[in-house]
Amino acid sequence: MLSGAVKREFDPKNMPFRRLGPSGLRVPLFSLGGWLTLGGTVKGDPVKEIIQTAFDAGINMFDTAEVYADGKSEEEMGRVIKELGLRRTDLVITTKLFWGVRKGPNQSGLSRKHIIEGTRESLQRLKLDYVDVLFAHRCDISVPMEEIVRAFNWVIQQGWALYWATSEWSAREIEEAYRIADRLRLIAPIAEQCQHNMFHRERPEKEYEALYRTEGMGTTVWSPLASGLLTGKYNNGIPEDSRLANHSNFFKDTIKSLKEPEGQAKIQKVRELTKIAEELQTTPAALALAWVAKNPNTSTVILGASSPKQVMENLKAIYVIPKLTDEVMEKIEKILDNKPEGAPTYGRPALDEFGRQ
Ligand SMILES: NC(=O)c1ccc[n+]([C@@H]2O[C@H](COP(=O)([O-])OP(=O)(O)OC[C@H]3O[C@@H](n4cnc5c(N)ncnc54)[C@H](OP(=O)(O)O)[C@@H]3O)[C@@H](O)[C@H]2O)c1
Repeated sequence: MLSGAVKREFDPKNMPFRRLGPSGLRVPLFSLGGWLTLGGTVKGDPVKEIIQTAFDAGINMFDTAEVYADGKSEEEMGRVIKELGLRRTDLVITTKLFWGVRKGPNQSGLSRKHIIEGTRESLQRLKLDYVDVLFAHRCDISVPMEEIVRAFNWVIQQGWALYWATSEWSAREIEEAYRIADRLRLIAPIAEQCQHNMFHRERPEKEYEALYRTEGMGTTVWSPLASGLLTGKYNNGIPEDSRLANHSNFFKDTIKSLKEPEGQAKIQKVRELTKIAEELQTTPAALALAWVAKNPNTSTVILGASSPKQVMENLKAIYVIPKLTDEVMEKIEKILDNKPEGAPTYGRPALDEFGRQ
């Protein structure tokens, strides 16, 4: 184990970096998250092996949440950061508040009370003085938006978080937060942590479209592999020790749907995507990850991994992005057949030859 004084140097290797939305913060195109894995199905030394593998491969951004494994994900991440002797300024650490770790009227949500108390507790579990980005894990419609915006700003003023952001908020809710921040001269959220993958496209590709243009909003994408479905591992049933097997209750609807026409159609699409992956000499997982990363509104794709091997396999996506030519993207689009429709123009022609409206 490295002592606190000797720091492990960060080498970004071939990792591309993008700005997180309109902020100056640079984030790696692929980051790593801890939902269900770190502190959950993976504990102790294997957590360290996964984080070390990621860090050594150029991933310096790690995402967690107060609710992941009831706080244990934050604890494990904090422990490993210390044990590996990672330099704080090399890292981008993000956590999320909403669900809390215990029951009670003020133990969850986005009241000023929970935002302030929840942040303090998250930092204690992470053994850190601050996180880089603090996410509102969902919107809390029971709290006035002004209270939410002011509370996140207060936390930033204390130095406990450097930026704040939203997760799975509707475009209308995000716009309200921007409007209030603007009116009160406060700091607005810089990103949205949304689900985006080949099977889940409406919100990131359609609902948020105006926010990318008007606010420069960025996304930190979750479940880019649809919990593993896009790797092809569920094509012939549910393998032992896989996410769906280990969390069969949480995923009961997904498991049920895989036996029904809707789920079977998805599996068929994965099979066809696998052929494209083979033509590109890669895996279906790397193809699916590269497809999300190619989207210019994606700031970072958060990987989930239950082993160091998965981290390394998934990072092959970096080299697949340049192979996604217009022709390949069209083939993928044909297979997916789920592209969200753009806003109607009612017959008005595009403004220029590039098809901009
Ligand atoms: N804001 C939110 O509401 C929200 C919600 C969910 C997640 N997130 C964040 O996003 C992160 C990523 O989400 P996710 O974990 O759902 O991502 P995902 O990429 O859709 O799924 C990751 C899981 O798929 C399996 N897998 C990954 N690579 C594989 C490979 N190469 N071959 C075979 N199986 C592979 C692993 O599970 P098994 O090996 O166990 O099968 C892994 O844990 C989370 O850790 C969390 O930080 C945020």
